[in-house]
Amino acid sequence: MKYAIYSQHPDINPEMWVDIDKIIAKWRHIPGSVITVLRECQDIVRYLPSELIVHISKGMQIPVSQVFGVATFYSFFSLTPKGRHNVKVCTGTACYVKGIKETINRIYGKYHLKEGGTTEDRRFSLEGVRCLGACGLAPVMVVNKDIYGAVSAEKVVQILEKYE
Ligand code: FES
Repeated sequence: MKYAIYSQHPDINPEMWVDIDKIIAKWRHIPGSVITVLRECQDIVRYLPSELIVHISKGMQIPVSQVFGVATFYSFFSLTPKGRHNVKVCTGTACYVKGIKETINRIYGKYHLKEGGTTEDRRFSLEGVRCLGACGLAPVMVVNKDIYGAVSAEKVVQILEKYE
C-alpha cells in the first residue's frame, strides 16, 4: 500500500521507499510508535530528509509538525546526511587541556570538516562530545567504534586515512 506519491530524492531509491512503506504499514495503527518508525527509517536512509518526514507524516496520519518535533527533539535523529564514518572528538576538560583543539583544527585543515558537519563526499561526520569517559587516554577520538587515545594533530590524519 502506498501512502503518498514518492518524491524524488537522491538518497532514497525505490527499494528504500518500499521498505519505508512496510515500516509505516507495520506501525501506523500503534499509538506512540513515531519514534520507532523514525528510527527504523533512519536505519535505512541513514538520516531523515524532510521529504521522508513528510512521507511518514502522511502515512502515519500524524501532523508533520509533530513528526518534525520528535525528529528534532532526540539527539540520535539526524536531519542532515551523515558520513560513512562517524568521528567523535572529546572536548571535555582533560582532552581540551591535552590539546584536542589542535587535532580538531587539523581535521578541518585536511578535510574541511567542522564539528556537527559532514564532508562533501560523505566520508566523515564529526561530532564534538563532552567526555568520552576515557580521560586517562586524553586526548581521545572515536571513529565508529574504534577508540584512539593520545591523538594529536600529527597522528590524526594518519588514523583517519585508514577509513575509506
Ligand atoms: S575529557 Fe576526554 S575522555 Fe574525559
